[in-house]
Amino acid sequence: MGVFSDRSLPATAASEVLMASKRKEFSGKEGQWTEAFPANMPRILLVGLGEFAAFNESKAREAGAVAGRRLAQVQARTAQFEMDRWEDPMWGRALGEALGLLAWNPMLYPGAAAKPDTRPDLTVFSSNETLDHGLADGIALAEAANFARTLAQTPPNIANPAYMAEAAREMAAERNLKVDVLSDEYLLAAGYVGIATVGRASINSGCLIRIEYCPEGMEDTAPVVLVGKTITYDTGGLSLKISGAMAGMKVDKAGGCAVLGAMRAIADVVKPNVRVVGLLTAAENSVSDDAYRPDDVLTYSNGVTVEVTNTDAEGRLVLADGLIWACDREKAKCIVDLATLTGGVVVALGSTFAGIFSTDDQLCQDLTDAGQATGERVWRLPLDQGYRDMMKSNVADLVNSVPNRKAHPVQGATFLSFFVNEGTPWAHIDIAGTAGNDSDKGMFVNGPTGFGVRLLARYLENHG
Ligand code: BES
Ligand code: MN
Ligand code: ZN
Repeated sequence: MGVFSDRSLPATAASEVLMASKRKEFSGKEGQWTEAFPANMPRILLVGLGEFAAFNESKAREAGAVAGRRLAQVQARTAQFEMDRWEDPMWGRALGEALGLLAWNPMLYPGAAAKPDTRPDLTVFSSNETLDHGLADGIALAEAANFARTLAQTPPNIANPAYMAEAAREMAAERNLKVDVLSDEYLLAAGYVGIATVGRASINSGCLIRIEYCPEGMEDTAPVVLVGKTITYDTGGLSLKISGAMAGMKVDKAGGCAVLGAMRAIADVVKPNVRVVGLLTAAENSVSDDAYRPDDVLTYSNGVTVEVTNTDAEGRLVLADGLIWACDREKAKCIVDLATLTGGVVVALGSTFAGIFSTDDQLCQDLTDAGQATGERVWRLPLDQGYRDMMKSNVADLVNSVPNRKAHPVQGATFLSFFVNEGTPWAHIDIAGTAGNDSDKGMFVNGPTGFGVRLLARYLENHG
């Protein structure tokens, strides 16, 4: 039962519940909870929602996490959710999201030495139809995010580019989605040099994974294109990472995982009336005698030449293929890319906001609003001619990284801007800080967050 701090419970509530709601330690503030045990009734968990006028989706999500954590503690199998006023259908959804996200288990490979997971399945419902429906949508959205989290959590010896392609195929097969996988040989022959070059040192070939959602009759319309950096492991290449910075780089595919999760959410819940294409630029950045090197020069299919100054700035090299593809092959109406692109954005914004860069104020605002609503928040950072000048090389058009480490997240975004057609609205979201979570509180445990799935789904819900 949700309890607002400035509203009294209905007089019909059981006396034990009324008493519990008046306990000293419980005033209905956010984060608080207490329990009542009325005779011949199930336990009532009271969860504080704060002031009624200030209540919103984010607070509903936080309250859902508080409730969910207690429900898990007591091994509940069924829970009925009620509160005296449901003004907004999104509140029920937020609750469902929190419960669903909380249900995700990072332990993908319990072996013979692990204790079995004894958590029972939890069935949730409400007597309020709007809330009940919201719960179902929220859980479906969380499942799409959890799908992305599981992929991001899957280790690099298993989740290589071919595995990601198979995961996309499997996900799409049960849904109204189409998948194509373009091999690195095909890409190279077609002038898409980024994925093939970055992936060359690995025995696990890179590929471009394309997923399409097309509502009936929309075949000839320009799609929204979502591009996801899908580096299944980032050793840094010949510009090798120091060992402490390498561990954890399985999450370097989180952008692609989020795009896959968003496509799933689009097919299952959002069903927007717009064509959506997801592109995963998949490769493993590895080391071998055949690895690409600092000093190599690449010529992209849009004619832009790039001097590789650092093989650890590989994300932008594969994303460039995806952006050119989105413009030339898909004739995108707008493009949003997600990437764990720079350590610099982690320094700048931590895990609270992702960095967003955009050539289009409206697109940027729409994504910012979707982020605020879903709790997957983004903060705008600049694109500017000054930064474009900074990326100049003396042997080619661009360097992939300026050695002086100035404005690293901006360098990454600026590099990408050279691969988007002028006039095509584009936003780049650097999720290096938000893709993972290092604490066990609220809706999340230590591990991947699925950041971007609910944000993109909401953006398309509002603009589909
Ligand atoms: N995958 C990394 C960025 C990253 C850092 C992701 C931390 C997740 C957590 C990216 O490819 C990278 O290595 N970036 C370098 C770029 C630099 C060498 C030009 C960085 O940010 O240090
Ligand atoms: Mn790197
Ligand atoms: Zn990387």
